[in-house]
Amino acid sequence: MTTTAFSVVILAAGKGTRMKSDLPKVLHKIGGKAILAHLLDTVQAFEPAKTVIVTAPDQDNIRTSFPDCDFAIQEKQKGTGDAVAAALPQLEGFQGNVLILMGDEPFIPENVLQEMAVHSRPVAMAILPDDPAGLGRMVMDEDGSLVRIVEEKDCSSDEAQIPVCNAGNMCLDADDLRSWLPRLNTENAQGEYYLTDLADIARTEGKAFDVFTLPVDHVWGINDKSQLAAHEAIYQDMLREKFMREGVHLLDPGSVFFHHDTDIAPGVLIEPNVFFGPGVRVSENVHIKGFSHIEGANIGAGSTVGPFARLRPGSEIGKNVRLGNFVEVKKSAIGDGSKVSHLSYIGDSTLGRDVNFGCGAITVNYDGFEKFETHIGDAVMIGSNVNLIAPVSIGSGAFIAAGSTITKDVPDDALSLSRAYETNKPGWASNFREKKSGKKKEA
Ligand code: UD1
Ligand code: CA
Repeated sequence: MTTTAFSVVILAAGKGTRMKSDLPKVLHKIGGKAILAHLLDTVQAFEPAKTVIVTAPDQDNIRTSFPDCDFAIQEKQKGTGDAVAAALPQLEGFQGNVLILMGDEPFIPENVLQEMAVHSRPVAMAILPDDPAGLGRMVMDEDGSLVRIVEEKDCSSDEAQIPVCNAGNMCLDADDLRSWLPRLNTENAQGEYYLTDLADIARTEGKAFDVFTLPVDHVWGINDKSQLAAHEAIYQDMLREKFMREGVHLLDPGSVFFHHDTDIAPGVLIEPNVFFGPGVRVSENVHIKGFSHIEGANIGAGSTVGPFARLRPGSEIGKNVRLGNFVEVKKSAIGDGSKVSHLSYIGDSTLGRDVNFGCGAITVNYDGFEKFETHIGDAVMIGSNVNLIAPVSIGSGAFIAAGSTITKDVPDDALSLSRAYETNKPGWASNFREKKSGKKKEA
């Protein structure tokens, strides 16, 4: 245990050209959370003296997304070395280690970062990926210290064969950083100030970098949409493992997608092909059936949802509720024990306890300009194919006849019926058919 002070510099100013997107690379999301937010969560857990994020002048959206962070501005994107130089004014007078991290690498093991941060010599992080495409190669001497890092575009054919790749992250003393950065130049294939050239400078100063190699064989760093998807897959697997360890039963883990804030209690059963958006809390012993899409919802204990259910933001589902196939709920509370079994839309509504909401019944909440509310008491029976035209209230114990369109409030325990009267005309259909088929023959 050492008390060496350290600060963190996160590089995020790059153009992110390979993402082909107007959104800065580090604001792209994994599990619904920005790449940079994942990295910051890891970093802030071990309380650095200072954390400086390097951004480009036009990246206001990064700065406003993280209002509590310190930012430096790199005027022109002249390479990773130049980006670190842009952060130096913020570290003026700081004594200790500076941990430099690439903003496009969200999943770095906390323990390795911690070890690097307090290391007494310069240290760089390495990986052994199956596919090293695009990564710098680590040229090492026999005792394992770093001679130099060669970017792929500058590699000789021999150097390109080196399996040890630069993970991009490094840590070194602030004073060394201040004296070595001005010695970088742009004499390389990309005409940029490479941070990686510090390795060579350090060695000539007799302070060669140590190398910490991570047992990582998967894709490293997010430069394009394919690498973004690969990181999403890694993150989803981490969440699936976490939930299963906590006692959530996933029938087909690989087909269930979680949001970073999904909260699921032990004993929940989730069938294949379920998607969780932001803000979902699921209580004990809920059963979520296949192909359900759920966001912004609290689901009470013992309830059943789906298959093919859609819960939208503001869905407050009580205990032992049944929501069946093709049921959509938005900004509505459904009381304990209620059943909405098939083909319904419930929006801007409250349902009491033990309501039976019939097949095909819907709340009609929108007149093209405004939204209106529907309130339903306890133990109400809403028949099939009912339209409840909001604003409207249905009293507890009321019975709404199937096929009714309800526009007026219904008192407690009343029957409400609003249908056209039925007329039966015996023989009409067969006469009609004969007439039509006769015509057909004539034509
Ligand atoms: C970098 C390393 C490479 C390593 C790889 C690991 C260098 C020269 N290369 O390459 O050896 O294998 O990471 O993922 O360091 N950035 C700025 N300003 C700039 C340029 C970049 O802030 O002028 C930021 C980017 O936003 C990004 C990070 O630095 O977050 C890395 O830049 P990127 O262009 O992705 O570097 P790589 O080509 O991946
Ligand atoms: Ca990168």
